[in-house]
Amino acid sequence: MYDFAPQGDQPKPELYADLAEAARALVSGEPDGVANMANVAALIWQFLPDLNWAGFYRNVEDELVLGPFVGKPACIRIPFGRGVCGTAAESGQTQIVPDVHAFPGHIACDADSRSELVVPVMQDGKVVAVIDLDSPIAERFDAEDAAGIEALAAIVAPSI
Ligand code: SME
Repeated sequence: MYDFAPQGDQPKPELYADLAEAARALVSGEPDGVANMANVAALIWQFLPDLNWAGFYRNVEDELVLGPFVGKPACIRIPFGRGVCGTAAESGQTQIVPDVHAFPGHIACDADSRSELVVPVMQDGKVVAVIDLDSPIAERFDAEDAAGIEALAAIVAPSI
């Protein structure tokens, strides 16, 4: 059994440092990518408040395909360049979207979503997946969240 837990009202950098340590421990020594993505999605859900979706889309032959996640059933395939996830995958750049309704081409998988953070997961300079977080609260994600999830993406990249 794993007994990771956030400690309550921590400043974001501390919260993300704890999340990173827990993720390192979870994926350490485990070669199965699906198992690792599933556990990391569950960990994000456990640690971060105010989310309605957290998970992975994988780069399968230059198309994003739904991976392990927590939340409502979601769109299965997203072309590179489409929506927030496809934009992150095509550009290799983190996308912080304070208001999804103002993002051209946003793909609404859950009508509750108001803001979104998508971080590319890179292996050898190539986007192999993205981590997608949705929140029912507008402006939920800031630069500290982006930095925290980018650090997490770097930790899990070799293990997915
Ligand atoms: N909103 C995303 C699609 C994925 S769902 O949010 C889970 C997008 O615009 O790419």
